[in-house]
Amino acid sequence: AYPKRVKVVEVGPRDGLQNEKNLVPTPVKINLINMLSETGLQVIEATSFVSPKWVPQMADHTEVMQGINKFPGISYPVLTPNLRGFQAAVAAGAKEVSIFGAASELFTRKNINCSIEESLERFEEVMRAAREASIPVRGYVSCVLGCPYEGKISAAKVAEVSKKMYSMGCYEISLGDTIGVGTPGSMREMLAVVMKEVPVGALAVHCHDTYGQALANILVALQMGVSVVDASVAGLGGCPYAQGASGNVATEDLVYMLNGLGIHTGVDLQKLMDTGTFICNALNRKSNSKVSQASCRL
Ligand code: HMG
Ligand code: MG
Repeated sequence: AYPKRVKVVEVGPRDGLQNEKNLVPTPVKINLINMLSETGLQVIEATSFVSPKWVPQMADHTEVMQGINKFPGISYPVLTPNLRGFQAAVAAGAKEVSIFGAASELFTRKNINCSIEESLERFEEVMRAAREASIPVRGYVSCVLGCPYEGKISAAKVAEVSKKMYSMGCYEISLGDTIGVGTPGSMREMLAVVMKEVPVGALAVHCHDTYGQALANILVALQMGVSVVDASVAGLGGCPYAQGASGNVATEDLVYMLNGLGIHTGVDLQKLMDTGTFICNALNRKSNSKVSQASCRL
Protein backbone atom coordinates (compact mmCIF):
# COMPACT_ATOMS: atom_id res chain seq x y z
CA ALA A 1 0.00 0.00 0.00
CA TYR A 2 1.17 3.51 -0.76
CA PRO A 3 1.40 6.27 1.85
CA LYS A 4 -1.61 8.64 1.86
CA ARG A 5 0.58 11.69 1.73
CA VAL A 6 4.16 12.38 0.76
CA LYS A 7 6.41 15.18 1.95
CA VAL A 8 8.32 16.53 -1.03
CA VAL A 9 11.69 18.04 -0.07
CA GLU A 10 12.70 20.56 -2.73
CA VAL A 11 16.48 20.60 -3.11
CA GLY A 12 16.77 22.59 -6.35
CA PRO A 13 18.20 25.83 -4.91
CA ARG A 14 21.00 23.81 -3.28
CA ASP A 15 21.61 20.50 -5.07
CA GLY A 16 20.31 21.96 -8.31
CA LEU A 17 22.46 25.07 -8.39
CA GLN A 18 25.64 24.01 -6.54
CA ASN A 19 27.13 22.53 -9.71
CA GLU A 20 26.35 25.39 -12.11
CA LYS A 21 29.53 26.59 -13.82
CA ASN A 22 28.51 30.23 -14.10
CA LEU A 23 27.71 31.97 -10.85
CA VAL A 24 23.94 32.29 -10.58
CA PRO A 25 23.14 35.83 -9.39
CA THR A 26 21.94 35.92 -5.79
CA PRO A 27 18.64 37.70 -6.71
CA VAL A 28 17.83 34.82 -9.09
CA LYS A 29 18.35 32.31 -6.26
CA ILE A 30 16.19 34.40 -3.94
CA ASN A 31 13.48 34.69 -6.58
CA LEU A 32 13.57 30.94 -7.17
CA ILE A 33 13.12 30.17 -3.47
CA ASN A 34 10.35 32.77 -3.12
CA MET A 35 8.48 31.25 -6.08
CA LEU A 36 8.92 27.74 -4.67
CA SER A 37 7.48 29.01 -1.39
CA GLU A 38 4.23 29.83 -3.23
CA THR A 39 3.79 26.31 -4.62
CA GLY A 40 2.72 24.56 -1.42
CA LEU A 41 6.05 22.86 -0.74
CA GLN A 42 6.77 22.41 2.98
CA VAL A 43 10.54 22.05 2.79
CA ILE A 44 12.92 24.01 0.54
CA GLU A 45 16.63 23.40 0.96
CA ALA A 46 18.04 26.85 0.46
CA THR A 47 21.86 26.75 0.31
CA SER A 48 25.04 25.29 1.84
CA PHE A 49 27.39 26.65 4.46
CA VAL A 50 30.41 24.93 2.96
CA SER A 51 33.79 26.27 1.94
CA PRO A 52 33.52 28.77 -0.95
CA LYS A 53 36.80 27.35 -2.27
CA TRP A 54 35.16 23.95 -2.61
CA VAL A 55 31.77 25.07 -3.88
CA PRO A 56 31.95 28.68 -5.13
CA GLN A 57 28.31 28.63 -6.22
CA MET A 58 27.13 28.52 -2.58
CA ALA A 59 29.40 31.35 -1.40
CA ASP A 60 26.41 33.73 -1.16
CA HIS A 61 24.71 31.52 1.47
CA THR A 62 24.25 34.32 4.00
CA GLU A 63 22.78 36.76 1.44
CA VAL A 64 20.39 34.06 0.23
CA MET A 65 19.22 33.17 3.73
CA GLN A 66 18.71 36.80 4.63
CA GLY A 67 17.12 37.75 1.31
CA ILE A 68 14.33 35.17 1.03
CA ASN A 69 10.82 35.60 2.36
CA LYS A 70 10.48 32.93 5.02
CA PHE A 71 6.91 31.72 4.84
CA PRO A 72 5.36 30.47 8.06
CA GLY A 73 5.05 26.68 8.00
CA ILE A 74 7.85 26.21 5.46
CA SER A 75 11.30 25.14 6.55
CA TYR A 76 14.44 26.22 4.75
CA PRO A 77 17.20 23.80 5.77
CA VAL A 78 20.83 24.35 4.76
CA LEU A 79 23.84 22.03 4.52
CA THR A 80 26.39 22.29 7.31
CA PRO A 81 29.41 19.96 7.08
CA ASN A 82 31.01 21.05 10.34
CA LEU A 83 30.63 23.26 13.41
CA ARG A 84 31.92 26.28 11.55
CA GLY A 85 29.23 25.89 8.90
CA PHE A 86 26.61 25.35 11.57
CA GLN A 87 27.53 28.54 13.39
CA ALA A 88 27.51 30.57 10.19
CA ALA A 89 24.15 29.09 9.25
CA VAL A 90 22.58 29.96 12.58
CA ALA A 91 24.01 33.47 12.41
CA ALA A 92 22.37 33.85 9.00
CA GLY A 93 19.01 32.80 10.44
CA ALA A 94 18.82 29.09 9.61
CA LYS A 95 16.27 27.22 11.72
CA GLU A 96 17.11 23.76 10.38
CA VAL A 97 20.31 22.19 9.06
CA SER A 98 21.51 19.03 7.35
CA ILE A 99 24.69 17.09 7.86
CA PHE A 100 25.90 15.00 4.94
CA GLY A 101 27.88 11.79 5.10
CA ALA A 102 28.29 8.85 2.76
CA ALA A 103 28.46 5.08 2.74
CA SER A 104 31.67 5.28 0.69
CA GLU A 105 35.08 6.01 2.17
CA LEU A 106 36.50 7.48 -1.07
CA PHE A 107 33.47 9.67 -1.79
CA THR A 108 33.62 11.05 1.76
CA ARG A 109 37.26 11.93 1.18
CA LYS A 110 36.56 13.67 -2.15
CA ASN A 111 33.43 15.43 -0.94
CA ILE A 112 34.28 16.59 2.58
CA ASN A 113 37.99 15.76 2.83
CA CYS A 114 37.93 13.25 5.69
CA SER A 115 37.23 9.60 6.49
CA ILE A 116 33.76 8.33 7.37
CA GLU A 117 34.81 8.05 11.00
CA GLU A 118 36.16 11.62 11.08
CA SER A 119 32.97 12.85 9.41
CA LEU A 120 30.88 11.27 12.14
CA GLU A 121 33.01 13.02 14.77
CA ARG A 122 32.43 16.37 13.05
CA PHE A 123 28.72 15.61 12.86
CA GLU A 124 28.63 14.88 16.61
CA GLU A 125 29.88 18.42 17.20
CA VAL A 126 27.17 19.84 14.97
CA MET A 127 24.54 17.67 16.70
CA ARG A 128 25.62 18.89 20.12
CA ALA A 129 25.41 22.54 19.11
CA ALA A 130 22.10 21.94 17.33
CA ARG A 131 20.62 20.27 20.40
CA GLU A 132 21.57 23.26 22.52
CA ALA A 133 19.97 25.60 20.00
CA SER A 134 16.90 23.33 19.51
CA ILE A 135 17.62 23.09 15.80
CA PRO A 136 16.42 19.97 14.00
CA VAL A 137 19.03 18.16 11.92
CA ARG A 138 18.49 16.06 8.83
CA GLY A 139 21.13 13.53 7.79
CA TYR A 140 22.15 12.61 4.27
CA VAL A 141 23.88 9.39 3.35
CA SER A 142 25.36 9.52 -0.16
CA CYS A 143 26.31 6.71 -2.54
CA VAL A 144 23.66 4.33 -1.17
CA LEU A 145 23.33 2.52 -4.53
CA GLY A 146 26.83 3.03 -5.89
CA CYS A 147 29.85 5.30 -5.74
CA PRO A 148 31.74 7.08 -8.54
CA TYR A 149 35.04 6.05 -6.91
CA GLU A 150 34.33 2.69 -5.26
CA GLY A 151 31.63 1.23 -7.48
CA LYS A 152 29.33 -1.12 -5.65
CA ILE A 153 28.43 -0.22 -2.08
CA SER A 154 27.04 -2.84 0.29
CA ALA A 155 23.60 -2.32 1.81
CA ALA A 156 25.13 -3.28 5.15
CA LYS A 157 27.46 -0.26 4.97
CA VAL A 158 24.55 2.02 4.09
CA ALA A 159 22.59 0.64 7.06
CA GLU A 160 25.56 1.10 9.38
CA VAL A 161 26.17 4.76 8.50
CA SER A 162 22.43 5.52 8.45
CA LYS A 163 21.97 3.98 11.88
CA LYS A 164 24.87 5.97 13.31
CA MET A 165 23.50 9.25 11.99
CA TYR A 166 19.98 8.40 13.17
CA SER A 167 21.26 7.43 16.62
CA MET A 168 23.09 10.76 16.82
CA GLY A 169 19.73 12.48 16.67
CA CYS A 170 18.98 13.18 13.03
CA TYR A 171 15.19 13.22 12.73
CA GLU A 172 15.35 11.97 9.15
CA ILE A 173 17.88 10.12 7.02
CA SER A 174 17.87 10.91 3.31
CA LEU A 175 19.32 8.07 1.27
CA GLY A 176 21.14 9.50 -1.73
CA ASP A 177 21.61 7.70 -5.02
CA THR A 178 24.23 10.33 -5.81
CA ILE A 179 25.05 9.13 -9.31
CA GLY A 180 21.66 7.69 -10.17
CA VAL A 181 22.88 4.16 -10.90
CA GLY A 182 20.29 2.36 -8.80
CA THR A 183 17.41 0.32 -10.18
CA PRO A 184 14.14 -0.72 -8.55
CA GLY A 185 15.88 -4.01 -7.75
CA SER A 186 18.87 -2.51 -5.94
CA MET A 187 16.65 0.12 -4.26
CA ARG A 188 14.39 -2.61 -2.84
CA GLU A 189 17.32 -4.67 -1.61
CA MET A 190 19.08 -1.71 0.02
CA LEU A 191 15.90 -0.36 1.68
CA ALA A 192 15.03 -3.77 3.12
CA VAL A 193 18.39 -3.84 4.90
CA VAL A 194 18.34 -0.19 6.05
CA MET A 195 14.76 -0.48 7.35
CA LYS A 196 15.97 -3.05 9.88
CA GLU A 197 18.13 -0.34 11.48
CA VAL A 198 16.19 2.90 10.94
CA PRO A 199 12.38 3.15 11.14
CA VAL A 200 10.89 3.67 7.70
CA GLY A 201 9.03 6.75 8.96
CA ALA A 202 12.41 8.43 9.38
CA LEU A 203 13.69 7.59 5.89
CA ALA A 204 13.70 9.71 2.75
CA VAL A 205 14.96 8.88 -0.74
CA HIS A 206 17.07 11.26 -2.81
CA CYS A 207 17.34 10.02 -6.37
CA HIS A 208 19.45 11.51 -9.12
CA ASP A 209 18.20 10.57 -12.55
CA THR A 210 21.45 9.88 -14.41
CA TYR A 211 20.29 6.49 -15.69
CA GLY A 212 16.61 7.45 -16.00
CA GLN A 213 15.64 5.21 -13.07
CA ALA A 214 14.66 7.82 -10.49
CA LEU A 215 10.85 7.65 -10.72
CA ALA A 216 10.89 3.85 -10.82
CA ASN A 217 13.18 3.75 -7.79
CA ILE A 218 10.95 6.20 -5.94
CA LEU A 219 7.87 4.12 -6.73
CA VAL A 220 9.52 1.09 -5.11
CA ALA A 221 10.46 3.16 -2.06
CA LEU A 222 6.83 4.36 -1.74
CA GLN A 223 5.62 0.76 -1.94
CA MET A 224 7.95 -0.06 0.92
CA GLY A 225 6.50 2.73 3.07
CA VAL A 226 8.85 5.65 2.47
CA SER A 227 6.87 8.90 2.52
CA VAL A 228 9.53 11.60 2.12
CA VAL A 229 11.04 12.22 -1.31
CA ASP A 230 13.69 14.73 -2.37
CA ALA A 231 13.41 16.36 -5.79
CA SER A 232 14.70 19.33 -7.73
CA VAL A 233 12.57 21.71 -9.78
CA ALA A 234 13.26 21.30 -13.52
CA GLY A 235 15.52 18.37 -12.59
CA LEU A 236 18.39 20.79 -12.03
CA GLY A 237 21.70 19.73 -10.67
CA GLY A 238 24.40 17.26 -9.91
CA CYS A 239 27.14 16.92 -7.32
CA PRO A 240 30.46 18.70 -7.91
CA TYR A 241 32.24 15.64 -6.51
CA ALA A 242 30.41 13.09 -8.67
CA GLN A 243 31.41 13.92 -12.25
CA GLY A 244 28.79 13.20 -14.88
CA ALA A 245 26.00 12.74 -12.35
CA SER A 246 22.90 14.51 -13.56
CA GLY A 247 20.23 16.29 -11.58
CA ASN A 248 17.69 14.99 -9.13
CA VAL A 249 14.36 13.68 -10.25
CA ALA A 250 12.35 16.70 -11.43
CA THR A 251 9.87 17.86 -8.78
CA GLU A 252 7.26 18.42 -11.51
CA ASP A 253 7.54 14.78 -12.62
CA LEU A 254 7.42 13.49 -9.05
CA VAL A 255 4.31 15.54 -8.24
CA TYR A 256 2.65 14.42 -11.48
CA MET A 257 3.25 10.78 -10.56
CA LEU A 258 2.06 11.25 -6.99
CA ASN A 259 -1.07 13.06 -8.22
CA GLY A 260 -1.76 10.10 -10.47
CA LEU A 261 -1.43 7.72 -7.55
CA GLY A 262 -3.86 9.83 -5.53
CA ILE A 263 -1.14 10.64 -3.00
CA HIS A 264 -1.49 14.05 -1.39
CA THR A 265 1.48 16.46 -1.54
CA GLY A 266 -0.12 19.88 -1.16
CA VAL A 267 1.93 21.08 -4.13
CA ASP A 268 0.36 23.05 -7.00
CA LEU A 269 1.78 21.51 -10.18
CA GLN A 270 1.10 24.55 -12.36
CA LYS A 271 2.89 26.93 -10.00
CA LEU A 272 5.75 24.46 -9.82
CA MET A 273 6.00 24.35 -13.62
CA ASP A 274 6.00 28.15 -13.78
CA THR A 275 8.87 28.15 -11.29
CA GLY A 276 10.72 25.62 -13.46
CA THR A 277 10.23 27.87 -16.47
CA PHE A 278 11.57 30.84 -14.52
CA ILE A 279 14.80 29.15 -13.47
CA CYS A 280 15.37 27.54 -16.89
CA ASN A 281 15.00 30.94 -18.55
CA ALA A 282 17.37 32.48 -16.02
CA LEU A 283 19.95 29.74 -16.69
CA ASN A 284 19.19 29.79 -20.40
CA ARG A 285 18.50 26.08 -20.67
CA LYS A 286 15.86 23.49 -21.33
CA SER A 287 14.03 21.87 -18.44
CA ASN A 288 14.90 18.29 -17.50
CA SER A 289 11.30 17.76 -16.44
CA LYS A 290 9.43 15.50 -18.86
CA VAL A 291 6.13 16.91 -17.62
CA SER A 292 7.27 20.45 -18.43
CA GLN A 293 8.47 19.39 -21.87
CA ALA A 294 5.23 17.60 -22.70
CA SER A 295 3.12 19.64 -25.08
CA CYS A 296 -0.03 17.54 -24.87
CA ARG A 297 -2.05 18.74 -21.90
CA LEU A 298 -4.87 16.74 -20.37
P1 HMG B 1 38.74 21.10 4.61
O1 HMG B 1 39.64 21.80 3.68
O2 HMG B 1 39.07 19.70 4.97
O3 HMG B 1 38.51 21.92 5.94
O4 HMG B 1 37.28 21.18 4.04
P2 HMG B 1 39.43 22.68 6.90
O5 HMG B 1 38.75 22.66 8.22
O6 HMG B 1 40.85 22.17 6.82
O7 HMG B 1 39.38 24.17 6.32
C1 HMG B 1 39.92 24.54 5.06
C2 HMG B 1 39.42 25.90 4.67
O8 HMG B 1 38.01 25.91 4.54
C3 HMG B 1 39.75 26.95 5.71
O9 HMG B 1 39.88 28.19 5.02
C4 HMG B 1 38.50 26.97 6.53
O10 HMG B 1 38.36 28.18 7.21
C5 HMG B 1 37.42 26.80 5.49
P3 HMG B 1 41.31 28.75 4.59
O11 HMG B 1 42.08 28.83 5.87
O12 HMG B 1 41.91 27.74 3.63
O13 HMG B 1 40.99 30.06 3.95
N1 HMG B 1 36.19 26.22 6.00
C6 HMG B 1 34.97 26.73 5.75
N2 HMG B 1 34.57 27.80 5.07
C7 HMG B 1 33.25 28.04 5.00
N3 HMG B 1 32.31 27.25 5.57
C8 HMG B 1 32.67 26.16 6.27
C9 HMG B 1 34.05 25.87 6.38
N4 HMG B 1 34.75 24.87 6.97
C10 HMG B 1 36.03 25.10 6.73
N5 HMG B 1 31.75 25.38 6.83
C11 HMG B 1 34.89 21.07 4.09
C12 HMG B 1 36.19 20.57 4.69
C13 HMG B 1 33.78 20.16 4.52
C14 HMG B 1 34.65 22.49 4.59
C15 HMG B 1 35.03 21.09 2.55
O14 HMG B 1 35.44 19.82 2.15
C16 HMG B 1 33.78 21.46 1.83
O15 HMG B 1 33.30 22.58 1.94
N6 HMG B 1 33.24 20.58 1.01
C17 HMG B 1 32.05 20.86 0.19
C18 HMG B 1 31.19 19.66 0.12
C19 HMG B 1 29.92 19.95 -0.65
O16 HMG B 1 29.30 20.97 -0.49
N7 HMG B 1 29.52 18.97 -1.49
C20 HMG B 1 28.28 19.05 -2.20
C21 HMG B 1 27.10 18.76 -1.31
S1 HMG B 1 26.90 17.02 -0.91
C22 HMG B 1 25.86 16.43 -2.17
O17 HMG B 1 25.61 17.10 -3.13
C23 HMG B 1 25.21 15.07 -1.98
C24 HMG B 1 23.73 15.17 -1.56
O18 HMG B 1 22.97 15.89 -2.51
C25 HMG B 1 23.14 13.76 -1.41
C26 HMG B 1 23.38 12.87 -2.63
O19 HMG B 1 23.03 13.26 -3.74
O20 HMG B 1 23.93 11.78 -2.40
C27 HMG B 1 23.59 15.88 -0.20
MG1 MG C 1 22.20 15.12 -4.34
